[in-house]
Amino acid sequence: MDKLIVNGGRRLDGKIRVHGAKNSVLPILAATILCEDECVIRDCPDLSDVKSAFEIIECLGGSVGYDAEERTAYIDTRNICRFEIPDRLMREMRSSVMFLGAIIARMRRADISYPGGCELGARPIDLHLKAFRQMGVKITELYGHIKCCADDIKPQRINLLLPSVGATENIMLLSATANGTTVISNAAREPEIADLQRFLNALGADVSGAGTEEIVIRGVKKLRAAQHRIIPDRIAAATYMCAAAACGGDILLENVCAEHIRIVISMLEDAGCKITVNGDTLRITRGEHLFSIDRVKTLPYPGFPTDAQAPFMAAMCMAAGTTMFIETIFENRFKHVGELLRMGADIKIDGRVAVVHGNGGLLGAPVTAADLRGGAALTAAALAARGQSEIYGISYIDRGYESIESAFSRLGGDVIRVSE
Ligand code: EPZ
Repeated sequence: MDKLIVNGGRRLDGKIRVHGAKNSVLPILAATILCEDECVIRDCPDLSDVKSAFEIIECLGGSVGYDAEERTAYIDTRNICRFEIPDRLMREMRSSVMFLGAIIARMRRADISYPGGCELGARPIDLHLKAFRQMGVKITELYGHIKCCADDIKPQRINLLLPSVGATENIMLLSATANGTTVISNAAREPEIADLQRFLNALGADVSGAGTEEIVIRGVKKLRAAQHRIIPDRIAAATYMCAAAACGGDILLENVCAEHIRIVISMLEDAGCKITVNGDTLRITRGEHLFSIDRVKTLPYPGFPTDAQAPFMAAMCMAAGTTMFIETIFENRFKHVGELLRMGADIKIDGRVAVVHGNGGLLGAPVTAADLRGGAALTAAALAARGQSEIYGISYIDRGYESIESAFSRLGGDVIRVSE
């Protein structure tokens, strides 16, 4: 098992390029199953979750080539002939559930094990299954397995109870080649949905409305090969910005879409950072002081992203004043708090509310990541803390950040990965 050793208390200075978005490439890899051809995906990030998605495509009969130098994936789905995802892969990456719509659309059948909960809580998929049943998919849930079959897909108007990102994406994938028009209302509006729409339309689909709360999918008979460049990872960008805010310094991020993190930018400016955007580069500097933000409430896009809550909390531990965090999306997304307390943070939790009294006085300590974004937050906190930290559980971090130790080393942080 690897761990990170961080010697903190240094400013961050330097430049890095932000990798392609994990939460965009995963549904787009699922979408390649809809066409019987070879697609080329550029800026495909080198992440363990992406490798799991490659394995799923290969389990189904497809083949995958990946040029890690170029960050380019070559996905050949001509020989897809299976419809099951093995339990091991479902467990490895619960977001494999977003392959369900594409597999049913292609094979008219699917057999996956229940994705189950994860570190963030129960992670139900009732909205996915309700929409699929409305669209004519017969689903039996037995002994932890979800078996689906559909003679044909019946386009519908689907009203989502919640603007679920995964459910929105799964319905888009199931309906792209259906015979008729499907409308999703109360759809999620995250930028990754718009990236999926762009890719589906490049394949020859007819999808519109992504980014708004109503998405219209006019089914087409056949899809063809496409090439696509994945959008920048807005959460990775937000994470590096929060680390610079926590440590102080002056960093330059390349390959950033500022529009996607508008609210994070404005809150870091309110906290005293200076942020300048020039095309797809973003510079953030933090001088002497960092100020707390009264309230940070996570909301569906374009509200404050739940995935940036933990990294932002790490920064607020270094700010003068008190910040209240309200986590409205997931029921168990404060697991990093216990570890921050070990570093001397002053945080009180009550249900979905966490109150941080910034005291700028974090001290290095051995800490353990319990989820992806919490692990990134602990890395940012360790960089800001005085003294040495050891960070365990970094396989969580590798799911969503390309070599976090290299990224922060290039920004002047003293971070090394050692094998236990
Ligand atoms: C996506 O997860 C992201 N993952 C998450 O990023 C992100 O935190 C989340 O959207 C919210 O933005 C990927 O895109 C791979 P949801 P997803 O369905 O689709 C409830 C990261 O760190 N819900 O929008 O699973 C659910 O419990 C990850 O990169 C139901 O009740 O999120 C949650 O409370 C973590 N029933 C809320 O909706 C359902 O059928 C939002 O979940 C589905 C969801």
